[in-house]
Amino acid sequence: MHPVNLEPGDQPFADATPRAVQPLAAQSVGVGVIGLGNVGSGTLAILAENADQIALKLGFPLRVEAVCSRSVADKQIPAALGSPVRTTNWREVVDHPDVQIVVELVGGTTVAREIIEAAAARGKSVVTANKELMALSGADLWDSAIAARINMAMEASVAGGIPIHAVLREGISGDRINTLYGILNGTCNYILTEIERRGAGFDSVLREAQEAGYAEADPSADVDGFDARSKLAILAALAFGERIVPADIYTEGIRRITPIDFGYAHMLRHTIRLICAARQTPDGLLLSVRPSLIPQSTILAGVRGAYNAVWVRGKYGADTFYYGRGAGPHPTGVAVVSDLMRVAREIRSGSPERVSPFAHARLGEYLPIPISLNRAAYYLRFRVKDRPGIIAQLAAALAAESISIEGVLQLPDEDASDLPFVITVEPTTEQALRDALARMAKMEFLIEPPLAMPIEASL
Ligand SMILES: NC(=O)c1ccc[n+]([C@@H]2O[C@H](COP(=O)([O-])OP(=O)(O)OC[C@H]3O[C@@H](n4cnc5c(N)ncnc54)[C@H](OP(=O)(O)O)[C@@H]3O)[C@@H](O)[C@H]2O)c1
Repeated sequence: MHPVNLEPGDQPFADATPRAVQPLAAQSVGVGVIGLGNVGSGTLAILAENADQIALKLGFPLRVEAVCSRSVADKQIPAALGSPVRTTNWREVVDHPDVQIVVELVGGTTVAREIIEAAAARGKSVVTANKELMALSGADLWDSAIAARINMAMEASVAGGIPIHAVLREGISGDRINTLYGILNGTCNYILTEIERRGAGFDSVLREAQEAGYAEADPSADVDGFDARSKLAILAALAFGERIVPADIYTEGIRRITPIDFGYAHMLRHTIRLICAARQTPDGLLLSVRPSLIPQSTILAGVRGAYNAVWVRGKYGADTFYYGRGAGPHPTGVAVVSDLMRVAREIRSGSPERVSPFAHARLGEYLPIPISLNRAAYYLRFRVKDRPGIIAQLAAALAAESISIEGVLQLPDEDASDLPFVITVEPTTEQALRDALARMAKMEFLIEPPLAMPIEASL
C-alpha cells in the first residue's frame, strides 16, 4: 500500500485511491513572511539553519516563497532560503500562488488585521505573533478563519519562548483551571530585578534598558502594563474559555516602584514583581496586571531579568509551572516556526484544528468581575513630611473603613522632610482600601499619594 499524499483542501478520507509518491521537495508547503524585524529575522534564520531537522520532523520541507517589509531591499535574507520573492507590498505575499501559510509579523492592529483578513479571504492559513490584535479581536478573527476553513496559530503572541498556548489548549486542557499567574513582560521584570539587585532608581534602569535594546524608546506599552495586559487577556481566554478583552483587566504599571519598596518588601520576606493574575472566585473571574508583593520563597520570585513564567493551578492536576525567555528573535522565532510546522501538518493531513481557542463555550461562571471585589492583604507605602500624629491619622482613615493594621515598618532615614514608611493591612476588599486611600488623599503631610500593592498570599 502506497502512502496517500493529500493536497491542500483535500479531505482526509474523500478519495482513498493511492497516488504516485512525490519526491520530498515537491511536497513542500509554501510560506510567506510579512514583517522582517526582530521576530521575522529570527524566524527566517531558523527556517534556514534548521531546515533539515524541520523537514525530517515533518516529512516534508517548508519553503519560503515570499518575504515582505517596507525596507525589504536592506534586509539580509539567508542564502539557504534560495530566492524568495522580495516585496514591499504585503498583498503580493498573500496573493502569491505558492504561499499556503501567511506569517504576519508586522504587529499593531491595522495592517496586521488587513493581512489576516486578506489571507483568510484567499483560503490561506495564518501564523501570527501579534498579541495586541489577538487580545483585542482574536475571537472574531478566529471565527472568520473557521468560516474560511483555514488554520490559524498564535503561539508566539504570549511569552515568546514558552509554548504556553499548546499547554493550555492541549497539555492541560482536561483540567479545570482555578488560577493563572504570570510574569509576562520581560522589560518590566528586567527593570524590577535590576532595581532590586542594585538599588538603582526606576529612571536610570529604564534608560540603561533602552540603551541596551531591552526597552523601546517609548516604554509605555511595557512599563505601564499594557503589553502584559494583552498577553493576560489571551491566556485567560484560553484558560477559562471566555471572551476576555483587555478592558476587562485592571492594569497598573511599575513606574512608582523604588529601591525603598524592595527594602520594605525584603523586611516582609517578599519581593516585588509585575504579576498578571487571573483567579476564579465564587463571584467570577478577577483579572489584574499590577506590581504585587510575592513571598521570596515562591518559585515566581526566582524569575529574574528578561525571563517570563506562567504558573497554572487546576482543580485536578494542581500546580504546573512554565518558564523561559519571553521575547527575542530566536525564542520567538522558535514559536513561529513550530506553529508553521503544526499548520503545515494540518494542511497536509487535511484535518485543521477548526475549534476556536477563544470562548469555546461561554460557561458564565468565569465572567470577569471588577477589581474592587478583590480581597487581599495590602502593602501601603507613604512618603510624608514628618510630624507627630501621622500614624494616628492614617490609622483613623483605615479604621473608618474597618481595615485592621497588621504592622508598621520604618527603615532608618534622616530626612524628616521626605520620610518613607510602610503600613501593612490585614485582608480587606479593594473597595474598602480605595475608600480609605481617598480619605488619606486630603492629608497635607503626604508628599505623594500612597502606593498600594496587594500581598499575594496564595502563591
Ligand atoms: N520582539 C519580540 O521579541 C516579540 C516577542 C513576541 C511577540 N512579538 C510580536 O511580533 C510582532 C513583530 O514584532 P517585532 O519585534 O519583530 O517588530 P519589528 O522589529 O518592529 O518588525 C516589524 C516589521 O514589520 C514591517 N512592517 C511594518 N509595517 C509594514 C507594512 N505596512 N508593510 C510591510 N511591512 C511592514 C517592518 O518593516 P521595516 O523593517 O521595513 O520597517 C518590520 O520589518 C509584533 O506583533 C510583536 O508584538 C514580538
